[in-house]
Amino acid sequence: MQSDTLKVIDERTGHEYSLPIVDGTIRATDLRQISAADGDGGLMSYDPAYLNTSSCRSSITYIDGDAGILRYRGYPIEQVAEQASFLETAYLLLEGELPTASQLARWEDDIRTHTYVHTNFTKFLDGFRYDAHPMGVLLGAIGALSTFYPDAKEIGDPESRYLQRVRLLAKMPTIAAFVFRHSRGLPYVYPRNDLDYIGNYVNMTFEIGGRHEPNPVLQRALEILLILHADHEQNCSTSAVRSVGSSQVDPFSAVSAGIAALYGPLHGGANEAVLRMLDEVGDVKNVPAFIESVKAGHGRLMGFGHRVYKSYDPRAKLIKSVADQVFGETGLNPKLEIALELERIALEDDYFISRKLYPNVDFYSGLIYQAMGYPTDYFTVLFALGRLPGWIAQWEEMLNDSEQKISRPRQTYVGHDERDFEPMAER
Ligand code: ACO
Repeated sequence: MQSDTLKVIDERTGHEYSLPIVDGTIRATDLRQISAADGDGGLMSYDPAYLNTSSCRSSITYIDGDAGILRYRGYPIEQVAEQASFLETAYLLLEGELPTASQLARWEDDIRTHTYVHTNFTKFLDGFRYDAHPMGVLLGAIGALSTFYPDAKEIGDPESRYLQRVRLLAKMPTIAAFVFRHSRGLPYVYPRNDLDYIGNYVNMTFEIGGRHEPNPVLQRALEILLILHADHEQNCSTSAVRSVGSSQVDPFSAVSAGIAALYGPLHGGANEAVLRMLDEVGDVKNVPAFIESVKAGHGRLMGFGHRVYKSYDPRAKLIKSVADQVFGETGLNPKLEIALELERIALEDDYFISRKLYPNVDFYSGLIYQAMGYPTDYFTVLFALGRLPGWIAQWEEMLNDSEQKISRPRQTYVGHDERDFEPMAER
């Protein structure tokens, strides 16, 4: 009969142990009993970068990286992206179920009534230089929100948590739009209650002289992109939010840690890096030489590869079709040709095939954002806008999980043994 245990023989001692297997995992703390000598603290698992460690039990997002499957609360990403609005998706991630019509109306209404930021907030933004990187500004700005809402520290109170959820989702588009305006030296445009979530954000970003002609195709395309980014289980930024949040800090501070993690070029910053790479390649005729230089170890093919997906990222597939709709409105982005050629050559090249490197969500998103009128260094702000519901949902799941404690990995110490301090004169 099959037993749900792992039998381990420690050949140092000859002792045998039986470790329970639950949901395809053993508990790392069960290894502690495996000890070779008194006081050695027992066995630990060593897993730099968490390549094979499950840090939580989660029911929010499911990914099968080999099959290219992504589901939010069980719903295939393709169906969510096609049929849901962004706020409906946020509700699904946060509450676990799709909202009814009245639940959605209340949710949208709650968010609509919290879109304004304190006027002091604009003074804070004004302190940044005109050329400050938008992600640096965003992470400082969201962290600063915690000082405006000291009640956000009440993380054990579900009502307070709901209010912070609403504040974060309502104010992030306003702040993101203000960050955009600040970088261009344009006056801030305030939220409008007659517009929906996406329409309001786009209006605050692009309105000039009281005017902005909304383009429904571009707005829906932006909404789909945000939905595709809304959660992605235990990625670098979400792990940062969970880890920082595990100290029981307020959610604004925890989310600003997520924004910091997202800023990096190996994570959300990749969409910006892709555009810079396409600029560097410059022309389709340079693609083969560029691919060769990547294979020779001179940099990476940005927007390719993923820790979890070992086949085509399902989000990248959906983004390609969004790109067609957007370019139908805006005209073709000339860099698309270079991107398509990079993809074509890479997908036929043994270096990429053997390492299972496929386009990820960031490969085409930057081209779309550029066509929509966003500057390159702003792309990751859009990623942050999209990822926000996932960060909050994962933060709350962590708080409600009785098995979670303050996040605190162990280490394997490989430094000096004890030695005497050397006075300055003897060094
Ligand atoms: N271009 C060229 N080679 C690559 C790339 C790439 N984009 N990605 C991985 N490789 C190679 C590595 O050099 C390594 O080769 P080796 O075995 O010969 O040493 C092998 O593939 C495995 O790569 P790792 O770095 O070990 O894979 P890891 O899972 O740690 O990294 C990551 C995943 C960070 C996404 C990586 O693929 C990468 O740097 N991609 C480019 C940046 C990017 O697009 N990031 C966005 C990710 S999606 C997101 O965050 C939304």
